[in-house]
Amino acid sequence: MQLKDRRNRAVSETINNIRGALADGPTITSLEQAKPILMSLCAQTELFSRTDFPLPEAGETERTFLIHEDENGEYALYVNSGLPGQTYRPHDHGGSWAIVAAVSGREKHRLYRQRNGGPNGNGNGNGKVSIEQVGEIDVQPGTAVSMLPEGIHSIHALGDEPLLHLHLYGRRFADQSTRTEYDLENNTIEQFVLEASFEIEDAR
Ligand SMILES: [Fe+2]
Repeated sequence: MQLKDRRNRAVSETINNIRGALADGPTITSLEQAKPILMSLCAQTELFSRTDFPLPEAGETERTFLIHEDENGEYALYVNSGLPGQTYRPHDHGGSWAIVAAVSGREKHRLYRQRNGGPNGNGNGNGKVSIEQVGEIDVQPGTAVSMLPEGIHSIHALGDEPLLHLHLYGRRFADQSTRTEYDLENNTIEQFVLEASFEIEDAR
């Protein structure tokens, strides 16, 4: 069997098992059960070579490959192939739960929650809102991070090794609603739609 067929088969199995774990909805407990299932896929490193998921060209920092989505856009699994040293401000995922696990490379994820009503809870689109850190995890081979639909995280570079991480979302990027990004210094937010802000390469 071709490597791509083997990967697609392993991906289907993984998604089916995760779908089973989340059958009663995404909760802290069910996402914790789903994490090791995605980590097992990551451990099959031969399925995720740099030949199939090359690093970005000069001038770019990352590439995003789609390797699965359900017909209705749920359970969207992306491979993120990136240079070391990337950071992202705290953000949510437009109402989608998420799990991030590593084939190779390390990055630090900080997890947050809102201290007050939040961007929608106080009826204010771009007002002041503050968040507080509630956890921190280094995502590297053998670990993973999960977030509820309202989960917020920031990403901080660790190490010199390029990244090859799997990002699984409850809904594909195009179906995620408005994302909120948080400015920690000024306690302000920016809201945006992710759709079409970068290229997604189909590697199914
Ligand atoms: Fe994120």
